[in-house]
Amino acid sequence: MTYRAVIEGPQVLSGRLAVPGDKSITHRALVFSAIASGKSRISNILTSADCLSTLDCLRRCGVRIEVDGVKAVVHGRGLSGLVEPDDILDVGNSGTALRILPALLAGQGGFAVITGDRSIRTRPVDRVLKPLVEMGARVWARAGGRLAPVAVAGGQLKGIAYRLPVASAQVKTAVLTAGLLAEGRTTVIETAPSRDHTELMLEHLGAAVAIDADAARGERGITVTGQTQFTAGDIDVPGDFSSAAFFLAVGALAASGPVEVVGVGLNPTRTGLIEVLEKMGVAPDVLVRSVNAGEPVGAIGIERGRLVGTDIGGGLVPRLIDELPLVALLATQAQGRTIVRDAAELRVKETDRLALTAAELKKMGAKIAPTGDGFIIDGPTPLKGATVESHGDHRLAMMLAVAALAADGVTVIEGADAVDVSFPDFFDRLRELGADVAIAPAKQTD
Ligand code: S3P
Repeated sequence: MTYRAVIEGPQVLSGRLAVPGDKSITHRALVFSAIASGKSRISNILTSADCLSTLDCLRRCGVRIEVDGVKAVVHGRGLSGLVEPDDILDVGNSGTALRILPALLAGQGGFAVITGDRSIRTRPVDRVLKPLVEMGARVWARAGGRLAPVAVAGGQLKGIAYRLPVASAQVKTAVLTAGLLAEGRTTVIETAPSRDHTELMLEHLGAAVAIDADAARGERGITVTGQTQFTAGDIDVPGDFSSAAFFLAVGALAASGPVEVVGVGLNPTRTGLIEVLEKMGVAPDVLVRSVNAGEPVGAIGIERGRLVGTDIGGGLVPRLIDELPLVALLATQAQGRTIVRDAAELRVKETDRLALTAAELKKMGAKIAPTGDGFIIDGPTPLKGATVESHGDHRLAMMLAVAALAADGVTVIEGADAVDVSFPDFFDRLRELGADVAIAPAKQTD
């Protein structure tokens, strides 16, 4: 169902909540347990549209997956046991599925075509197909090999050493996934640390993976030995830090008391936002309660404070890539100038998040300008209610809802249903903290 959200601000919230399972980890848990041998039990899976797309694609490749609420049992088919899908695979809006599935299928038998929604068909896939071709894969894509639909004819792959040209965990995961199926060893070298859930999960499942960190050069090499069977295991998915981030921003901007998020993943390759909040003067309280299969899990609490502008760039960027629209919002309320650099990747996310974050926040009165690789924001500026648009981007929809809570007057968020991609219960959770949010049918367009 398409809908708009109507929020009259300012509103003050506070309280404690848990967020749903991590999107990146759910994708990986489904994919790796599909090619493990034996039965994996996965708890706290995210059942948002993106993860359900991956689940559906795997089922179409013959993988039996039983889902009961947020629990899944995956009957692994072994490394190269997937079957040829009898129809086109549809990844919907999921960039992670778009990047991992060609790698997974290139090392199996059979032929497959992968496509997705209008947004996914504008997102680069050549970054994955290039290394796959080096590995001997037979893959094709539209627009000179750049865009989905992608066609894959499975065959024998060979291991390669691949230096990532962009700090992308999706590309890293795709090459390592193909490497699991390939002859010999495959090494991915990354110069800036991107999220390491793949490495941690493969280690947890007992796959042949080795990590070599060259601290002096600031590089990491991740090597998998192909064609080495690994066994299914139990996986407990932590809460998604990127979903928790919206509530940390609520706490920093619109809280009457503390906001606390519990049961959330605190993997340092994901929590760059905590460092940014510290630099902006609203240091959260972070408590790691357990480490589960290498993934730290715990609680984060935050209270409203006086924000100051900051500079963000370099190796920090991949560690908060999905949180940058929220950083832009926080910066509108901070004293002084905030500059975000080295974030050109935001142009090829679900939308061009540099252009659209700036355009939508400007409608609410923000002083923000997109640059070639980031934003410049001057603050503080009082935000005022406006009619804004998600452009079908889940993270823009949620960021704009947080902005609406801090703004003066009524904000209408068109396309608010985009939250279904990663966080279907987002508005319910906001209400749990005391928010007044009205959901209304989408505006009729003809
Ligand atoms: C993801 C990696 C990031 C991130 C995306 C999920 C993943 O993309 O933006 O939401 O699960 O590996 P890139 O790896 O392309 O930066």
